[in-house]
Order: sequence, then structure tokens, then C-alpha cells
Amino acid sequence: MITARAHTNIAFLKYWGKKNVKLILPYNDSISLTLDRFYTDTSVDFDQSLDHDEIFVDEKPLTGSGVKRVKNVLDLVRHLSGISNFAKVQSTNHVPSTAGLASSASAFAALAAASTKAAGLNLSNRQLSIIARHGSGSASRSIFGGFVQWHAGHDDQSSYAEPIQENVDWDINLITVLINTAQKKVSSTNGMQSVVETSPFYPAWVKNAQADVKPMKTAILNQNLATLGELAEQSAMRMHATTFGAVPSFTYFQPQTLAILSAVRNMRKQGVECYSTVDAGPNVKIICASSDNEFIMHELNQIVSAKQLVVCKPGPGITYL
Ligand code: PMV
Repeated sequence: MITARAHTNIAFLKYWGKKNVKLILPYNDSISLTLDRFYTDTSVDFDQSLDHDEIFVDEKPLTGSGVKRVKNVLDLVRHLSGISNFAKVQSTNHVPSTAGLASSASAFAALAAASTKAAGLNLSNRQLSIIARHGSGSASRSIFGGFVQWHAGHDDQSSYAEPIQENVDWDINLITVLINTAQKKVSSTNGMQSVVETSPFYPAWVKNAQADVKPMKTAILNQNLATLGELAEQSAMRMHATTFGAVPSFTYFQPQTLAILSAVRNMRKQGVECYSTVDAGPNVKIICASSDNEFIMHELNQIVSAKQLVVCKPGPGITYL
């Protein structure tokens, strides 16, 4: 039995829409930061006494669409390794599940790492990234620590993530504002499929997202928080704009989401370098320098309680326990 740990990541430049649904190939490259605070530990054992795959998440049998995605990854690993045994998978999330905090990213990255090693394979991180992608697109990035780019690619082998800067030695952190940790109504899979098929804003999203890749990488390498933050906030707002344009239209925003977005803009007007990003859920993550945490948290405390705020720093890539 092998156990692997992977951390969640938050996209600064979002992945939002698949050009190949089966292979999970995205329309555009994306860029993320792996975080230290939220992670998943997954153990895998290919056991010849099993007559089906047994999958437990947080000690409960997994149900719903996640089962098929886990089996996709296990089937791929069985195919690559030539073993035919079923597997026992036990996964523990140290992250509020499906609240737009990308638990699927850490979950499938940990699954890719643990299952390949349990099957006797010794793969490169690039190959692990490709395997993790088959479970969830954002998981391709959680194989690596720090700032990571997922290359959209054009087929299975060309769509993988790689580090931009693994050891982030500058003062950037993320304040996560947990607005609602309940299960979201529109999964990211359904949300992105809906905008691809129905939102007239979608083509503009793809064009602008791809154009932002280079400037964002440059901002990371130059440790330019202002440019990086502005591009990240724009990416998030444009992604959410596609949902308003969908038919039927939908949004992940809740009243407190808007209140936080507005508070961040106001703090910026006062000269504090802070920027928002929001994934497929209501929670806001604030990108800032840790030297400004105290001021920002004090302001946010007027809208949410202190226990809704979690400060995250750059986190590491996959490890084996
Ligand atoms: O990896 P998925 O299928 O959970 O999609 C993630 C989509 C976003 O979190 C909204 C953006 C991203 O790049 O992580």
C-alpha cells in the first residue's frame, strides 16, 4: 500500500472549458499557485482478493460522478502497468470539499501519485500530471509546488503541467475567505460545459486567457505582485462573466462574495496591494503580501468572522508518506 499527499492549488489564470471532454484537454493554458494549508492524503493498494474497486473518501464510500473519474485513473494505471487487480483507495481531505477550493485537484494528484507507485510504476512528474489530468483538469497542476503552468496541448501527451517557480521565495500569500463550504449547486464540470456550449462570451474568454499567459509568467518571475494580482483578478472576473452569459444563466457568487470583492477594491483604493480571485464557488481568495495580512483581515472582519479566514502560503508538490 502506498500513500501520497498532494496540496490544492488556486488558479491565478483559470482553466474554464474543455476542448476535449473525454481526455480533459482545456481550451487555454492556466497558471496556479499550490497552497500549503489544504491537502489530500490518498492510499492505494492493488489487492488480488478484491472483486471491484473500493473507494473511500473521508471514511465513507464514494458515490456519484467521482466514482467514474477515480476508475478512469485506476484503469489508466492498470493499462500502463499491466496489472489487473482491483484497488482499495482511501482518501482523506484536509480541505472543505467541493466549495470551490479545488479538493478535486489535490485528490486526483494524490491518487495519480499513490496509484502509479502502488502499481510498481516509477513515472516522471510530467507523466503523473498527465494521469492526474484524467481525473480532474486542475489536478494536473497539483503534482508540482509553487507557481505552475498547465499547457493546454493538443493531445493526451502534450497536455501537462510544469513548474514556473517551485520555491516561491517572495512574500506572497493568499487569504481564503470561506463564505459557504456546503456542496455547490453547479459543479465545475457542468458549469464549464454550459458556458462552452451556450455563452456568447466564451470565445472572448479563450482569446483573452491565452493572451494573458506570457504577461502573467513574466509578473511571477519578476515578483511583480501588482501586475500578477491585476491579471489574476481579471481572469476570475472574466471567467464568472461567462456564467452570466450562459443559457440558462447562473452564478457562483453569493451576496458575501460581492461584499468581499468590493472590500478588496476599496482597500486597493487606500493603497493596499490586494486582489481577488474566485473559483467555481462563492469563496474569495485574496492575493496579497503577508505584511498586509493584519490590515486586510481587520477590514474583512467587518463582513465575515475571523474563523472564516484562512491564510495560505505557497505549498509543495506531491510527497509520499
Ligand atoms: O479541475 P476541475 O474540473 O475541478 O475545474 C477547476 C476549475 C476552476 O477551479 C474554476 C479553475 C481552475 O483552473 O482551477
